Amino acid sequence: MTLRGLTLSNRLAMAPMTRSFSPANAPDAAVVEYYRKRAEGGTGLIVTEGIGVDQPAAIGAGSGTETHIPLLHGEAALDGWRKVTDAVHKAGGKIFPQLWHQGVFRIDGTGPYPDAPSLRPSGLWGPDGGFSTVTRDYIARVIEPTRPMTEEEIADVVHGFARSARNARDVGFDGIAIHGASGYLIDSFFWSETNRRTDRYGGDMAARATFGAEIVRAVREAVGEDMPILFRFGQWKQQDFNARIAETPDELGVLLRALAEAGVDMFDASTLYFSAPAFTGSDLPLAAWAKKLSGKPSMAVGGVGLSENLFASFETGGAAVENNFYDVATRIERGEFDMIALGRALIADWEWPKKVAKGEATMPYSRAMLDTLQ
Ligand SMILES: Cc1cc2nc3c(=O)[nH]c(=O)nc-3n(C[C@H](O)[C@H](O)[C@H](O)COP(=O)(O)O)c2cc1C
Repeated sequence: MTLRGLTLSNRLAMAPMTRSFSPANAPDAAVVEYYRKRAEGGTGLIVTEGIGVDQPAAIGAGSGTETHIPLLHGEAALDGWRKVTDAVHKAGGKIFPQLWHQGVFRIDGTGPYPDAPSLRPSGLWGPDGGFSTVTRDYIARVIEPTRPMTEEEIADVVHGFARSARNARDVGFDGIAIHGASGYLIDSFFWSETNRRTDRYGGDMAARATFGAEIVRAVREAVGEDMPILFRFGQWKQQDFNARIAETPDELGVLLRALAEAGVDMFDASTLYFSAPAFTGSDLPLAAWAKKLSGKPSMAVGGVGLSENLFASFETGGAAVENNFYDVATRIERGEFDMIALGRALIADWEWPKKVAKGEATMPYSRAMLDTLQ
């Protein structure tokens, strides 16, 4: 699998997963070891946990109480990430940082820059009462409408993404992953429930794509032509798992082509189950549509190697092993999508790729595994 100047050893990626184990927002030796092991276990591409971009309102307490989310600016954080990329490379892997701005999810007064006001395209968190796992207590703290972002704040975020991307290149990352899903800032521009702007950033799908496309363009300019850009998008939101940004493939095509033209090299279609049909009237999953509509390679994710999807395992506390990866391989062979990402399966078992290649049993997932970094 080759993306611009980068060749990966296989088509398996580690999905981005927030772990909140970086004290003072800088990855330490335990974080280095966590990623190094996944490279040693045979994962071709590691996408890191969401990392706060260089804009003061990027991270804080989101729907959890996490405070140990890493940054990608400041000496300690850059030093920590340099050690991570070195260790991953020595173990034969490649690694992209997932650049993240929490946007509407950040609780005011929290995070490394508590005085910075949280940023929302139209001041809206989203509709209350959606199908969601966020708590009533959290919703009470974010549901009141605030003011819309100013044009200066929009430009400030775009520049923040670009600075963090440049820093990523400087500390040895192999590409850039941009978090444009799950209801966070970029996605809240895509979603008509949270974007009611009447300027060039709001309106139809093409206008709502503008903010994301500006970020991609700025990141491309910051990192140059060699580094691949992976962009995560998705229909579901943390505010409402049943939410949709695109009702039809045509609408999705408008969004993805705008992002592809801006410089995206591969789309990461965020779904709960990799093969779930994305639109009525077709069996194709979201990653297949992404590839077909954008003309770019795509990556699927959701439920690989496990019996329960992410949200079911929130309820039940775990997931058993399920050998559904032959279906994944078949779909990659017939060109539906190009790569597959694994989330919880790689938390449960860092040697998952090597074990599966040898036909050995892998470990089941338990939510208690999130309490420690292993
Ligand atoms: C503990 C945990 C943290 C996550 N954090 C992020 C994140 O920071 N960024 C993101 O885009 N997705 C995040 N996700 C979603 C995963 O990337 C992935 O899409 C999801 O877990 C489905 O894949 P799986 O069924 O293989 O686990 C997280 C998932 C888990 C389990």
